[in-house]
Amino acid sequence: MTSSPLKDLARHVEELLATVRELTSMDGALEAEPTITGKRSILSTLQKSLGSLEPEARRDAGAQLQEARRVVEEAFATRKNELAQVARSEALASDRIELGDVIVQNVRWPVDAGHPGLVASTQRSLEDVFVAMGFRVSEGPEVESDWYNFEALNIPPAHPARGLWDTFYVELGDPETVVLRTHTSPTQIHLMEDAVGSNSLPIHAVMPGRCFRRDTPDARHLATFHQIEGLVVDRGITFADLAGVIETFTRAFFGPDISSRLRPGFFPFTEPSAEFEITCTICHGEGCRTCSQTGWIELGGCGMLDPAVFDAVGIDSEVWSGFAFGFGIDRCAQMRHQIADMRALIENDVRFLRQFS
Ligand code: PHE
Repeated sequence: MTSSPLKDLARHVEELLATVRELTSMDGALEAEPTITGKRSILSTLQKSLGSLEPEARRDAGAQLQEARRVVEEAFATRKNELAQVARSEALASDRIELGDVIVQNVRWPVDAGHPGLVASTQRSLEDVFVAMGFRVSEGPEVESDWYNFEALNIPPAHPARGLWDTFYVELGDPETVVLRTHTSPTQIHLMEDAVGSNSLPIHAVMPGRCFRRDTPDARHLATFHQIEGLVVDRGITFADLAGVIETFTRAFFGPDISSRLRPGFFPFTEPSAEFEITCTICHGEGCRTCSQTGWIELGGCGMLDPAVFDAVGIDSEVWSGFAFGFGIDRCAQMRHQIADMRALIENDVRFLRQFS
């Protein structure tokens, strides 16, 4: 009996399996492939040596060798898979982006693109309500001259009513002539001037936008906040039209359970003037910290346009009449979502923001 070329096959297989186990990288595996399963491997050498055997012995040996190859190839494929997985998690780990305290792990496209903030989405819903009622949406500048923010609104320089608005002044031109708008009412003036210039009265418009006041932030106030102004200038407009618009808006936006009330108020640009309040949605009228125990939350002011304002923009108050209102958008968001402290709107805590996606 000649000694079989396969007498050491078991040992060769053991050695090949050990080599496979010891592979530590995908590159190493690809490099070793020819000597493990390829042309330069012991298995291929043995394959060639079978040619010298008798046909029957060759068949047996061939079958043995095939089985050995299957075992080695399987182990090699498994190991390559493991190495590919290691390579993938290493790549993911190196994709980590450190942003201060925030660690974004495994950034992959498409990334979370974010969503409009609560104030922006509240503004859109408010616009929707008013557009459905026939108003158009218009915007005005955030930096205004004293004329637009005050004088044209019947608030002359040094008038005590200026105390209603704690104003940020911009260092531009003569002292205290340029301001960050303290309300959206100056946009009314722009709209009326434009309408007079283009002979396009009547006006039915709402004007949302950012406003600024030298206020200390608290549960109901922010120094940078948002208002939506409303303006109607038409023939034969009365206080009943104003009250109807406010009532319709309140029910459409806050739902039928929330009631509104108008209380006598004072604004230099409207006469008569009213303050517009709704039931506090946090305590449902019981009284709480947010509404200072009153059960009511003031949303804004309103009134019939004062003839002095029509005079300032050159509209004939004998022919035209109108009303205006201005509400806090942040306040609406706060009341609609029962946010006890408005400062949450500017803290940018993602746990808060994500609730409104
Ligand atoms: N502009 C006023 C404010 O911010 C609100 C208001 C607007 C009042 C329109 C009357 C008419 O306080």
